[in-house]
Amino acid sequence: MINPIHDIDHVLINEQQLDEIVTRLADRINHDYAPSPNAIRPCKLIVVAVMKGSVFFYTDLIKKLNIPIELDFVKVSSYYAGTRSSGQLKIHLDLKRDDYENIDILLVEDIVDSGRTLACLTENLRGRGAHSVRTVTMLDKPSRREVDYKADYIGAEIPDEFVVGYGLDFDEKYRDLPYIGVLKSEVYTK
Ligand code: IMP
Ligand code: MG
Repeated sequence: MINPIHDIDHVLINEQQLDEIVTRLADRINHDYAPSPNAIRPCKLIVVAVMKGSVFFYTDLIKKLNIPIELDFVKVSSYYAGTRSSGQLKIHLDLKRDDYENIDILLVEDIVDSGRTLACLTENLRGRGAHSVRTVTMLDKPSRREVDYKADYIGAEIPDEFVVGYGLDFDEKYRDLPYIGVLKSEVYTK
């Protein structure tokens, strides 16, 4: 039987560190989205998992939120289209709503790499008329950026290494590892 742990070069972020990062992000989100008692028309906050990589992070994060939220899910891929900075978006699974008035959207992503996915998705959702669209990402690889994009909440900046676990995959494998590890380069070069 293949043991996935043999394919991991080293652990980059362990389970305790992941929990500390999620707690810190949740504290900031709870603070920033705390309902205002004076609001005339309060917005509804939809916390959206960008599938599939964010699933572990998403479920851990929403358990630590103490503000009213609704859950939703989206699955997208982005294609770079010539000179357009943010490329084009293919939506495989869309949000379950038509009306975006008085809606705040918080996208939950696993990792920002080139930045294309979130640049496209954010632009798309703003175009539907949402009151606000922000993003929380577990990981950020700023050295890999190809378009101008910065998430609103960032768990940890990491170097340009291919990581798996805690939802992140290589070829749909390793998502179930409870930590984030650097994949041995021979796994994806063979
Ligand atoms: P981008 O920011 O549009 O380039 O795409 C980000 C997506 O690429 C993430 O949501 C991941 O699905 C995937 N990705 C980027 N870097 C990694 C990595 O190191 N491990 C696993 N998936 C990655
Ligand atoms: Mg992803």
